[in-house]
Amino acid sequence: MFYIELIKPCNIAGLLFLILLAMAEDLIIITGSKQEQYEALIPQIKGLIEGETDLIANLANIAAALKEQFNWLWVGFYLVKNEELVLGPFQGPVACTRIKKSRGVCGSSWAQKKTLIVADVEKFPGHIACSSASRSEIVIPVLHNNEVAGVLDVDSKKLDEFDTTDQAYLEQIVSFISFQ
Ligand code: SME
Repeated sequence: MFYIELIKPCNIAGLLFLILLAMAEDLIIITGSKQEQYEALIPQIKGLIEGETDLIANLANIAAALKEQFNWLWVGFYLVKNEELVLGPFQGPVACTRIKKSRGVCGSSWAQKKTLIVADVEKFPGHIACSSASRSEIVIPVLHNNEVAGVLDVDSKKLDEFDTTDQAYLEQIVSFISFQ
């Protein structure tokens, strides 16, 4: 009866509530400034990963949510295993599976323990071109016990796609990741 009350045609709020209920697994994609997009996405990412302890499941959903909202070329994680970065959950074209410390943008971000923004990948010495379509890139280290446990790597088809706004929000997003 409660639901029937809600779907009376005059009750738009109730209708919207029911639509959202039905689409609970769907991401709400918004348009707007970069900041507005991150502000709408972050609570949804929190909702997707809170209560789930499996690392791979959470990394997979974070990569999918970022790819769906921003439609970048490649979004994914590399995880530190035996002193190498090994490909983890990602969205986009197939990618290199292993990257050594200090190699490429990912290995440099790991070695320097800091976010690297590359406006033009062709100008980054040692850049590893997993996809020839990639023009710019941002790599954020993911920390566990103050050590780099992996990196979040994002590639764009556009030159100079990423800035300090992306850095601030992506650093916030990776801080939600828990290695249990
Ligand atoms: N370009 C990266 C390699 C990973 S792929 O872009 C997915 C780098 O230079 O480390």
